[in-house]
Amino acid sequence: MKLFAFLLPFALGSLAIFTPSTPPSGGISQDLAARQACENTATSRSCWGNFSINTNYYTEFPDTGVTREYWLSVENTTCAPDGYERLCLTFNGTVPGPAIIADWGDELVIHVTNNLQDNGTSIHWHGLRQLNSVEYDGVPGVTQCPIIPGESLTYRFKVTQFGSTWYHSHFSLQYAEGLFGPMILNGPATADYDEDLGALFLQDWSHTEIFTLWDTAKQGGVPTLETGLINGTNTWSCADSTDPKCVGGGEKFEAVFEAGKKYRIRVVNGATDGHFQFSIDGHNMTVIASDLVPIVPYAADSIQVAMGQRYDVVVEASADAGNYWLRAGWTDACVMNGSPEDMTGIIRYDSSSTEDPDTTSAVEASDSCGDEPLASLVPYLSLDVTNTPIITSEALDFVFDDYFKWTINSSSFCLDWKNPTLLQIFNNQSVFPTEYNVVSVEPSQTNESEWLVLVIQDETGLGITHPIHLHGHDFWILAQDTGVFDGTSGSFNFANPPRRDVASLPGNGYLAIAFELDNPGAWLVHCHIAWHASEGLALEFVESQGQIAVGMTDSDIFMDQCDAWADWYPDVFVQEDSGI
Ligand code: C2O
Repeated sequence: MKLFAFLLPFALGSLAIFTPSTPPSGGISQDLAARQACENTATSRSCWGNFSINTNYYTEFPDTGVTREYWLSVENTTCAPDGYERLCLTFNGTVPGPAIIADWGDELVIHVTNNLQDNGTSIHWHGLRQLNSVEYDGVPGVTQCPIIPGESLTYRFKVTQFGSTWYHSHFSLQYAEGLFGPMILNGPATADYDEDLGALFLQDWSHTEIFTLWDTAKQGGVPTLETGLINGTNTWSCADSTDPKCVGGGEKFEAVFEAGKKYRIRVVNGATDGHFQFSIDGHNMTVIASDLVPIVPYAADSIQVAMGQRYDVVVEASADAGNYWLRAGWTDACVMNGSPEDMTGIIRYDSSSTEDPDTTSAVEASDSCGDEPLASLVPYLSLDVTNTPIITSEALDFVFDDYFKWTINSSSFCLDWKNPTLLQIFNNQSVFPTEYNVVSVEPSQTNESEWLVLVIQDETGLGITHPIHLHGHDFWILAQDTGVFDGTSGSFNFANPPRRDVASLPGNGYLAIAFELDNPGAWLVHCHIAWHASEGLALEFVESQGQIAVGMTDSDIFMDQCDAWADWYPDVFVQEDSGI
């Protein structure tokens, strides 16, 4: 149980300047102090000191005065998470990497050292707004130059949101080789629970390195990976194998439930290319957050999780004592996998049991590659979309030139790592290279808040669903439909629509999302299928260019980083994809 436990939210304290996870008190203004402070306990999860689940966290958040410091070493090693050995990339030697844990309102300081011999890297903190800290968003070629081997970069940002997310390399396909880990940002919640079990990663897993498979993927094929992992572990049969790499020793993920208790589980889809319908035999769940947005709780027997998405669920240990399969729920209809039925873990009511469950699933298997129904995802903090003067329409298509590439308005995204968008902005450029797919947006000079609407229409005819992720903002989902966008707002829902940071673009359909222009920066939008990002399915917003402010120290660090990269590259290898 120990090795394969959930990535415990309060474990690994030695990595941090650690303070107990209590509601914050410092830095609170007078009117806030006047509010009744309320303690976050198992029966009052909506409380958070002088803040709460009702706080508008886009404009107001605690200032705890606490700095949490972490050290991540990016390493090239061998691993055998399911008992089959291969080369992999890790943070501090493990897949997933260590949990980064902070309280809402803390300052995170994360030192990333690139210990790879011959490759750059750059780490992204998925879903975090990076309010006024675009330079630490971690996208090579957009917000920074990559970190060269042997060097470190310290990322610093304020935790203005709370909930469940993950960090991962944003440098080509590196995250698919194992470079990802959980982020747990403690704060209030919309339902009570007894214990926080931490992150639960669902992913596909290959026995061949992803960078090797890229040679086939870039021809437009979809590689079938051998298996999948749950929190970085699974079994693989080596019984009849003479393959020396089949070393055995893989184990199922296990967790123990105590009857009557309620557990919070933070489900993350960290796949390269895979869609899940997550469930636990014999148990229902209460869904309390989609990405970093608390929602009005709803009951479900399974949840659809697209790549990059997170769902926080509360599961009550209400079944008869026994062993139960926990199922990632691979959806065959989206992409094939070699072991779709085998992506399982075990929930035990008796920790001494070693038997496999004999349970079956009562869940009706879906062939949807999309999201939970929009009607289910009602943000608890109700916020409407108002004032949308700018609508940008983007057509998704593909070309085959030197390899298979996705295009946005006819241009396939491709970056030059040594010339990030932010560097061009520092140099006062306002025209960006075509293949950076920059959409510049400037709010007009009114004092009113302004929103941008992005409509992506799939014109490929391929019928593939794409999980679309935006950096720098949560977005409001105005429409998500099969068919053709009619060019009007007729199909849009502006009244507290679902809000999150990854949503599916239905095959041959369209996705319309909106966000408030409240965070100057250079923000990537991309498909979170790793192959597709490498194949150029991305664009970026340069938002309020004149307002992008980076402090002197941070811009010096930025420049040094780019100088170091320019000196080091390109003697060793060449960029073989879009760069992200
Ligand atoms: Cu999960 Cu652009 O990232």
